Amino acid sequence: MLKVKGISVRYDIIPVLEDVSFSVQEGQFVAIVGSNGAGKSTILRTISGLVHPFQGSIDFLDEPIQAAKPYEIVAKGISHVPEGRRIFDKMTIRENLLIGAHTKDNQAEVRNTLQEMFELFPILKERQNKKGETLSGGERQQLAIARGLMAKPKLLMLDEPSLGLSPILSKKVIQACEEIRRSGTTILMVEQKVTEILKLVDQGYVLQRGKIIREGKGSELLASDTIRKAYLGL
Ligand SMILES: Nc1ncnc2c1ncn2[C@@H]1O[C@H](COP(=O)(O)OP(=O)(O)O)[C@@H](O)[C@H]1O
Ligand SMILES: [Mg+2]
Repeated sequence: MLKVKGISVRYDIIPVLEDVSFSVQEGQFVAIVGSNGAGKSTILRTISGLVHPFQGSIDFLDEPIQAAKPYEIVAKGISHVPEGRRIFDKMTIRENLLIGAHTKDNQAEVRNTLQEMFELFPILKERQNKKGETLSGGERQQLAIARGLMAKPKLLMLDEPSLGLSPILSKKVIQACEEIRRSGTTILMVEQKVTEILKLVDQGYVLQRGKIIREGKGSELLASDTIRKAYLGL
């Protein structure tokens, strides 16, 4: 579904990604893990068209997208839930969700998707007429993910969805991601929480200082010496 081939990205003259390649097959849950500053958010920003690589290519459903504009990429079926769960504080939860569907014309379909989101995240249904500012951190993350799903993406990209959440809430968010995958949406997640996420995913990539240093099945990576030493302190 998504093929990233040898992309390199700089901010001004500072290299941030170097020759990064990975792929995501339809229906998979894929994670890119790495420490703070490794370049995880930059990878997602590059796929979204917010940053352009000076080398390499990105194909989505067999079409090159590395030069496309962000709105064109959304229209092709990629939703990006950025870091920091930005939502509109002064709008209601329902309004926030409907903004996620602004590219959809079919109102009946939008209403259906909204109901699906309320089933996936019951708290959003309960609070649908409350302002965004009334939500806790965990609820904001649920809203940010649901808003991304309102566009009915083929590929959902999540940037550290559990950052700053309590262990219980981050478990809840990760469980929701599994449910989303089961319902047929492909997921690409970037995370610092190496152990939690590698347990779940089909395929994992380890990013270190802008380079992919390892890849494999989540369970294989977790068992590998490099990962255990570098990230788990074992
Ligand atoms: N807009 C920017 N301008 C210059 N440097 C940036 C910018 N955004 C991120 N960086 C730098 O790029 C590197 C990778 O950042 P980022 O992709 O945010 O990493 P991660 O998400 O893994 O923490 C870091 O060294 C960061 O300081
Ligand atoms: Mg980041």
